[in-house]
Amino acid sequence: MRTIESLGDLTGKKVFVRSDFNVPLDGDHITDDGRIRAALPTIKRLLDAKAKVIVTAHLGRPKGEPKPEFSLAPVAKRLGELLGRDVPLAEDTVGPDAKAKIDALNDGDIVLLQNVRYDKREDSKVDADREALAKEYAALADVFVSDGFGVVHRKQASVYDIAKLLPSAAGELVAKEINSLSKATANPERPYTVVLGGSKVSDKIGVIENLLDKADVLLIGGGMAFTFLRAKGYEIGSSLCEDDQIDKAREYLETASNKGVELLLPVDVVVADKFDKDAESEIVSASDMPANGMGLDIGPETVSEYAEKIASSKTIVWNGPMGVFEFPAFAEGTKGVAQAMQDAEGFTIVGGGDSAAAVRILGFDEEKFNHISTGGGASLEFLEGKTLPGIAVLED
Ligand code: 3PG
Repeated sequence: MRTIESLGDLTGKKVFVRSDFNVPLDGDHITDDGRIRAALPTIKRLLDAKAKVIVTAHLGRPKGEPKPEFSLAPVAKRLGELLGRDVPLAEDTVGPDAKAKIDALNDGDIVLLQNVRYDKREDSKVDADREALAKEYAALADVFVSDGFGVVHRKQASVYDIAKLLPSAAGELVAKEINSLSKATANPERPYTVVLGGSKVSDKIGVIENLLDKADVLLIGGGMAFTFLRAKGYEIGSSLCEDDQIDKAREYLETASNKGVELLLPVDVVVADKFDKDAESEIVSASDMPANGMGLDIGPETVSEYAEKIASSKTIVWNGPMGVFEFPAFAEGTKGVAQAMQDAEGFTIVGGGDSAAAVRILGFDEEKFNHISTGGGASLEFLEGKTLPGIAVLED
């Protein structure tokens, strides 16, 4: 994969940077700026190299129309605070304001263009539409740096098509993500353990299938665990269950045992009387759930079993919360896994999305994990072993 060095001297060059600033917002307040902070090394490097830095990104899915709730204005402000300088926001991406602001850049200056998804060609399924927009992007710059790891699984104009038109390279974040995630996918040091959570089996089918060939231990938690427990014939009350995935779950249990993969399910769970942060709750054995109970977290015995596996592994990947961590009464499972990851001596990767958010929201020290991915879907697809278009296009 080509990296920034391959672009040579960037003094005075216009660099079109694609970042992923798809951050969670409450009104115009950014509730987790992890993705903006993760973009800083590339941006600072380009500014120090005296390039003219044109940063682009998407926020949400505005479906090809300018919608104020998807404006990058809060991002421009936060990026400016983090860089300690003003970051002007162009009100369009390939329109007159973007062009004027780019023309006004001096060496070592920066501009952020408005949400690339305000233009419906950006994520069009029609190649010619995307290619036409990519040509307009390419006309704005001399080189392209792809640094939005969270979006490299999307074949979109500012991620994929532009890379074919300009000298292009992976930014620092993309290079770091690929380097770290490859430690799990390429040739992991063993034992290789994967902790999988989140609500749905159907979201993780590709990952589970790939991991049944690669991992030594699979630890299942979160809402998806109940579909597995159901597949074993257990009562799961009103817990989340994907009925159409029960057979799949049963098949995975069988495949794991045939392949010698240790696939562990919760031995105890925290059940509540309703989905509510103040719900009455109790810890019960997973094989003894009440018919009116709703499992909202893994129990303490499960946490210590999983923690032991994590501690004795050399490579550990974690994707998906173990319970409804947003409710303090049901956050212990997720906290327990995060703690075990933090204490582990093996190489630890938090596979992005909700688990990365959980690490920050629950107050863990990000520095104590070897890698926290900024990708959601992108890191999952990478773990599935899929080719990511935005990476493939940067290969030599
Ligand atoms: C993400 O949040 O996973 C990325 O920013 C990609 O967003 P998308 O799923 O809307 O393409």
